[in-house]
Amino acid sequence: MEPRYLFDAADLMVRYPNGEVALHDVTFKVKAPSFTAIIGPNGSGKSTLLKTALGMMKPMKGYIRVLGYDSQRDKAKIRRLVRYVPQRDRIGLTVPMKVKDIVLMGRLLKKLPPRLASSHDVEVAKTALEQVDMLDMWNHPFPELSGGQRQRVLVARALAGEGEILMLDEPLTGTDIESQDLIVKALSEYHENNEVSIVIVTHDLNPVHTMVENVLLLKGTVEGIGEPCSIMDPEIVARVYGPTARIVEYGGHKYCVMKDLGFDRHD
Ligand SMILES: Nc1ncnc2c1ncn2[C@@H]1O[C@H](COP(=O)(O)OP(=O)(O)OP(=O)(O)O)[C@@H](O)[C@H]1O
Ligand SMILES: [Mg+2]
Repeated sequence: MEPRYLFDAADLMVRYPNGEVALHDVTFKVKAPSFTAIIGPNGSGKSTLLKTALGMMKPMKGYIRVLGYDSQRDKAKIRRLVRYVPQRDRIGLTVPMKVKDIVLMGRLLKKLPPRLASSHDVEVAKTALEQVDMLDMWNHPFPELSGGQRQRVLVARALAGEGEILMLDEPLTGTDIESQDLIVKALSEYHENNEVSIVIVTHDLNPVHTMVENVLLLKGTVEGIGEPCSIMDPEIVARVYGPTARIVEYGGHKYCVMKDLGFDRHD
């Protein structure tokens, strides 16, 4: 049987209306199901790749398919399959929504009106909040949470939703190490216990490298793809992050040392 691919991109080129070429010559495949990290410096096209996969941007050239569906032709189908958490989600910050409303929204938006929460919906939403240790905040106003707590609730919203793929654009940004570990562990467990693929965009491999199966390293194009171990290569890292980035080995682990990111331990 032909393997199923979470992503299958060939010769992909994406340009913004102002002429900025965000991605070029992007060719790669990732088998499904998978837990994949997309990494790369600022402006390397990570968010653009997700947006293109979701049909929000039209390729100038080439294609990207999600589970065999073309990002342009089959975008409605892809949107039903994917639970997407954008990089900057302003959701609920102006409307006084409660934590429970945000998480339930992950289930209700894909339903037909009237969108009423069943007791099952509530149960799933509570379980998801428990996984990121935020169940205590069920009735709390969402805008009054800290940035890191909000990120955790948004991850819970994705966990509570339906669809074979979760795509989270920098869910770890602005969270402390404890929250990062919680989020990554919740996602990893969810991936193991369900037939779902998870894609997480991150600046830093540090919190995810022991959990993810694949890493896609971008800088306008594909600079590396493979197991986390193979990406932790001194040459690749120096090429993408500059000469100040180093890989060092200590106590049987590889670490990526970057000036701006600190230590990145890799087993
Ligand atoms: N709306 C836009 N209009 C024009 N150019 C854009 C737009 N969004 C992004 N770009 C450009 O496209 C390139 C890739 O941006 P993208 O947001 O995909 O990077 P990223 O890897 O997600 O970065 P970050 O780590 O900062 O989130 C950058 O050069 C950026 O300036
Ligand atoms: Mg981004």
